[in-house]
Amino acid sequence: MFMINVLFVCLGNICRSPLAEGVFMHQVYSRNLGNLFRSDSAGTASYHIGKLADQRSIAVALAYGIELNHKARAFTLNDFYAFDYIVAMDRQNQKDIQRLEPADAKAKVVLMRDYDSEQKGGEVPDPYYGEHKDFEEVYRILDRSCAALLHELTGDRLIDHS
Ligand code: 4NP
Repeated sequence: MFMINVLFVCLGNICRSPLAEGVFMHQVYSRNLGNLFRSDSAGTASYHIGKLADQRSIAVALAYGIELNHKARAFTLNDFYAFDYIVAMDRQNQKDIQRLEPADAKAKVVLMRDYDSEQKGGEVPDPYYGEHKDFEEVYRILDRSCAALLHELTGDRLIDHS
């Protein structure tokens, strides 16, 4: 069965990318597209491997009916072959990913806010040293950006079935 595999990547894999994965899959399931998509998240740094998402990401997600169960893991070379899309939260994440990119990578590396209808090409700000309102803002950015990404991935025009 044809599936699209999407990996969301940030620095620590405890604030932004687990929330992005949760938001994206929530949208996928609410559009009955669960059989079409698989998603995961990872971090370019390894400080938080094995940890659940930051309590503030968990709380914001829960307020919108989304449960986050992800345990942090580091981005690996294999991810270039296991995923179709690698979605970086900010430019530094994107650079760190692209630095490792093998010539025969399957994945296309993109920036999350290239899909933001309100601010294309921006970054998902790191909320780690912020407060609740910063996590709320990250949620709103991710909600808009994931919706547009999903729309693009489900538009026939842009799906490569080869
Ligand atoms: P994330 O946020 O990349 O969105 O998961 C951060 C988490 C931890 C750290 C920085 C950013 N840290 O420095 O430990």
